[in-house]
Amino acid sequence: MREACGHGAFKGFRAGARPPGTEKHMDSNTTPDAAGHRQDCLRGQALAALAATAWQDKLAAVRAMSDETVLDCEQAYTPTAELPGRPARPELVVPAQVKQRSMATEEGRAALLHALAHIEFNAINLALDIMWRFAGMPAAFYRDWLRVAREEAYHFDLLRQRLAAMGYAYGDFPAHNGLWDMAQRTQDDLLARLALVPRTLEARGLDASPAIRAKLAGAGDAESAAIVDIILADEIGHVAIGNHWYKQLCAQAGKDPVSCYAELAQRYDAPRLRGPFNLEARRAAGFDDAELAALQAG
Ligand SMILES: [Fe+2]
Ligand SMILES: [Fe+2]
Repeated sequence: MREACGHGAFKGFRAGARPPGTEKHMDSNTTPDAAGHRQDCLRGQALAALAATAWQDKLAAVRAMSDETVLDCEQAYTPTAELPGRPARPELVVPAQVKQRSMATEEGRAALLHALAHIEFNAINLALDIMWRFAGMPAAFYRDWLRVAREEAYHFDLLRQRLAAMGYAYGDFPAHNGLWDMAQRTQDDLLARLALVPRTLEARGLDASPAIRAKLAGAGDAESAAIVDIILADEIGHVAIGNHWYKQLCAQAGKDPVSCYAELAQRYDAPRLRGPFNLEARRAAGFDDAELAALQAG
């Protein structure tokens, strides 16, 4: 593994462009593109995968990203394509226009699985986005989010295959874009991104999982319920990664994680979280008693 990053205490992170010509630790066998980006760096690969529009290309790009890929933690990137890359379908609508359907029909269950697949598609994009966008973090930060991107791609593919077995494809139902909206709002603020995407929206997925699983199992769809089990187990790890880096940045900045979270949630208009909370999964993901108490106090 070749890395152009320090392993010691990190001094900070930046969103935005680095002045041209100041790239550090460039290998002699790497060639920057016209925008000055090195193409072989893991973070450059994340940006390219994020820009991929067809789900097949996005999954292939994520699968091609290796733990052995050179990593430059300092390089700044300027996107040249519209982000995130996404296919023309599903049609994006406001959340109120996404219909709740009965679990008694296969179409209803397919609509639910499609909604989950769209969340996973956005989750792939979110993991890739945090990798390229925020420079100046330790190598372990980028490798953690590579793991998340891979697991989100796996979740998307499991759901896509289940949909295919039921006669449906990704894109067949309308979807809403709440997850990506929060990514846009926090594009200049890594602490807010960590607080409000993995620790809020992904953590909300932990809370929602048991009821979704019960709905599918109750309708006799054991195969789909088993996919929800796999996703929940992995998502605990994603929220744990969010918690780990959020708390590191809070400690570095001398901020209290609980009050800082409340401030960020208000500033960025985060959705208010309502119970029932999956406290067991949240504890496993690293939320401590003070955070869980604040959550339950609402
Ligand atoms: Fe996922
Ligand atoms: Fe996730």
